Amino acid sequence: MRRILVIGAKGMLGRDLVRVLSSTFCASKKSDWEIMEWDLEEIDICEEKKTVTKIENFRPAIVINVAGYTDVDGCESNEEKAFAVNAEGMKHVALGALRCGAKVVYLSTDYVFDGKKGKPYLEDDPPNPLNVYGRSKLKGEQYVQEIAKDGLIVRTQWLFGKHGKNFVASVLRQAKEKKVLSIVNDQIGSPTYTIDLAEAISVLLHSKAQGIFHVANSDLCSWYTFGQAILKLSRIKGAKVIPISSRELGRPAVRPAYSVLHCQKLKQVTGMVLRPWSEALKHFLESDPRPLA
Ligand SMILES: NC(=O)c1ccc[n+]([C@@H]2O[C@H](COP(=O)([O-])OP(=O)(O)OC[C@H]3O[C@@H](n4cnc5c(N)ncnc54)[C@H](OP(=O)(O)O)[C@@H]3O)[C@@H](O)[C@H]2O)c1
Repeated sequence: MRRILVIGAKGMLGRDLVRVLSSTFCASKKSDWEIMEWDLEEIDICEEKKTVTKIENFRPAIVINVAGYTDVDGCESNEEKAFAVNAEGMKHVALGALRCGAKVVYLSTDYVFDGKKGKPYLEDDPPNPLNVYGRSKLKGEQYVQEIAKDGLIVRTQWLFGKHGKNFVASVLRQAKEKKVLSIVNDQIGSPTYTIDLAEAISVLLHSKAQGIFHVANSDLCSWYTFGQAILKLSRIKGAKVIPISSRELGRPAVRPAYSVLHCQKLKQVTGMVLRPWSEALKHFLESDPRPLA
């Protein structure tokens, strides 16, 4: 059997990725693929020797690293952990993959950009992260490029899905607790549904894509507009959203003001364009009405 190893399989994206890959790679009776799931219980990617050896001995054909220290504000006060997991952890995974000839896939972020371009970012636009999380993820990208010649780096943004903490869950929870929700309206991006992203990763793997790809749902909005759409589509009437600035919110990590990802390369290579975020959100809320973290 050929193995696809998903590391970080219990996370928000990891769970949906395993589900999607199982149906796209393993559904046919003739398939010789199997999807393997590792998370912290099976491996701590910060431990170099154990990670390299365990991956080498396991002999996967593809290793997808969706493990990460994803608390963007937490990364500001714990830079060491951010780099240990997001950068060095990726390096250890790539070294293990190199030893057994496996293809490496790394999930990265729009936060590698400073948001000052004012137009959607292309894959080869120069990165300039504003926060520790973005810097640690950029370092992870650089390790993949150095170690894994046919490596695939997928940059994405503003994820929402059924499993794990995310903005949709947070808005729905807050709407139950208070009448007025203050949400920033000076950060622009594209909310992205984990199922749609997982499907795009599957298609990229089937296309044997390598290098950097931007993958996000179409259309853009501010967190404020996204929040309004969540309440409207969930038919929540008692709560109101008011716009505030990032300065007023005062989060520890600075976020880019405009980090929309241009997904032209995905379209060129695979023909794929992800549906608008509002459609994906509607589908998510209708089919998965329990995203409460
Ligand atoms: N969420 C977003 O909006 C977003 C946007 C752009 C890019 N990304 C990237 O997409 C990927 C998936 O994000 P996500 O939101 O699905 O993340 P997530 O829900 O936080 O899941 C990450 C998983 O990795 C595990 N993990 C943490 N440290 C580990 C370690 N040292 N060794 C092994 N496993 C470890 C976590 O376990 P614990 O939960 O027990 O710590 C968790 O199960 C990440 O690489 C992230 O940087 C996410």
